[in-house]
Amino acid sequence: MSSRTSKKKASSSVSIVGMGYVGLCTAATFASRGITTRGVDVDQERIRQISQGRAPIHEPRLEGMLKVAVKRKLLKVSTETSDIADSTTTFLTVGTPSRTDGSIDLTFVRLATEQIAKTLAQKEDYHLVVVKSTVVPGTTNGIVRPILEAYSHKKAGQEIGLAANPEFLKEGTAIDDALNPDKIIIGANDEKSRDHLTRLYKDFYRRKLPPILVMVPEAAELVKYASNAFLATKISFINTIASVCQRTPGVDVNQIAEAIGHDPRIGPLFLKAGPGYGGSCFHKDLQAIIHYAKEKGFDAVLLRATEETNENQAEQVVELAQKILGTLGQKRIAILGLSFKKDTDDIREAASIRVINKLHEKGAEIVAYDPMAVRNTKKSLPYRIDFAQDSRSALEGADCAVIMTEWDEFKRLREKDFKALMRNANIVDARRIFQPSDFEHSNYQGIGIGT
Ligand code: UDX
Repeated sequence: MSSRTSKKKASSSVSIVGMGYVGLCTAATFASRGITTRGVDVDQERIRQISQGRAPIHEPRLEGMLKVAVKRKLLKVSTETSDIADSTTTFLTVGTPSRTDGSIDLTFVRLATEQIAKTLAQKEDYHLVVVKSTVVPGTTNGIVRPILEAYSHKKAGQEIGLAANPEFLKEGTAIDDALNPDKIIIGANDEKSRDHLTRLYKDFYRRKLPPILVMVPEAAELVKYASNAFLATKISFINTIASVCQRTPGVDVNQIAEAIGHDPRIGPLFLKAGPGYGGSCFHKDLQAIIHYAKEKGFDAVLLRATEETNENQAEQVVELAQKILGTLGQKRIAILGLSFKKDTDDIREAASIRVINKLHEKGAEIVAYDPMAVRNTKKSLPYRIDFAQDSRSALEGADCAVIMTEWDEFKRLREKDFKALMRNANIVDARRIFQPSDFEHSNYQGIGIGT
C-alpha cells in the first residue's frame, strides 16, 4: 500500500454510536467505501448479530454489505464507547423517541454524548462529533455541546469539533439514499468542524459529491423537520382532496393529482392518496416540531392539521366499507397489508392498525394477511384477530377486503379471485392498486373515487 493511500485511510476513519436503523445503514455505507468504521451500541444481542454480518433489521442490500464489511474487517462493532477513540469522527445516531405528550425525549442523546466526551477526555488528537440523530433546533448547541465540553474538558471549536448533519433515509431504499443523497446538510459553528466533515464527505462521494449546504446547527436541525413536515403535509393535502373527490360523483383523486403535478411548482411526487402516512418518522417528527413551536410560543396550526387529517383518514377507509356493507358488526373483513408501506415488516404508526382498531370497535370480525408484518402485528395488538397464511386464505369467506398496503403480490390478484373466494366480492382499495374498471362485476370502492 502506498503511503498516500494509508494516509488517506487514516484520515477517514469513522465511528457510529447507536446501531439502530440509521446508524447501521450509515456504518454499512461508510465501510463499503473502504472507510474504517467502528460501530457502538449498548444492546449486546444486536452487536453480536452485526459482528456476525447479520442485519437485525430488514433493509434491502444491508445484510450483504454488512457481511462484506465484517469479513474485510472494515466494520468492527462493540458495546464499548471508548472504541471511538481510534476514529477521527463520531456520528451520533441514537434514537430520539417521543415522550407521552409527543415532545422529543433526548435521554439517549445525553447519555451517549457523556460517554463519547469521557473517551475524548483521554484523547490528544482533534476529534469531530457529528449529531445525525433527528433532534429539535438547539439540541446540538444547547444540550450536546455543554455535555461534551464538561466531560471532555475540551472546548468545542478548538480541541474538539461539533456539527449537526441530519439524514434523510427512507426505509426500503436507505442504502441507495445514503450512497446517492440529493444534498448534504452541515450545521457547524466553526470552520474547522465544517471543513473536517466536508473533507470526509468529499473522500466518500468523490466525483458524485452532492451539493453541500452549510449553515448553523439550529438551521440544519430544522431542515430535517421542515422536510418531513412538508412531505407529511403533502400527503394530508392529497388525502383531503381525496375525501372531497369521494363526495363528488365522477371525480377521481388520481386524475386531480396527475393534473396538478404537471405544475412544476407542485410536482408529481408524494401525491398518492391512501389510508394515511405511517412509519417511524413522520408522526414522531411532526409531534416533536409542534411541541417545539409551542414551547417557543407559536401554535403550528398547519402541522396540527396535517396530523389530524392523517388520524382521520382511517375513518375515511372504514366509511368506504360501511358504504358497501352498512353495519360492520359480525362482518368478516379481510385486511390485505399491515406494514406502513410495501417491502417492510415495519408496522410503526401504520394506518392498518388505526383501521383495524376502528373495525374492531365496530364489532367486525377481522382476518389479516401481510407478506412480512404479521409477526410484528401479533406482538403489538392488544386483542386477538385472525391471521391468514396468504392473501387467498384471507379472502376466503370474507364479506369485504380492505387493501391497506401496496404489496406487489396483491396487485396480481384479479376480480375472479375475489369473486371465487369471498362470500361477496366487496373491495375497499385504500391504496388504489387497482382501477375501478378492473372490478366491473363487484362492489369496488377506492380512496378518492367519487361514486
Ligand atoms: C420518511 C421520509 O421520506 C424520509 O426522508 C425520512 O428520513 C424518514 O421518513 P419513510 O418513513 O421510510 O421515510 O417512508 P416514506 O416512503 O417517506 O413514506 C411514509 C408514509 O407516507 C408511508 O406510509 C407511505 O405509504 C405514505 N405515502 C407516501 C403516501 O401515503 N402517499 C405518498 O404519496 C407517499
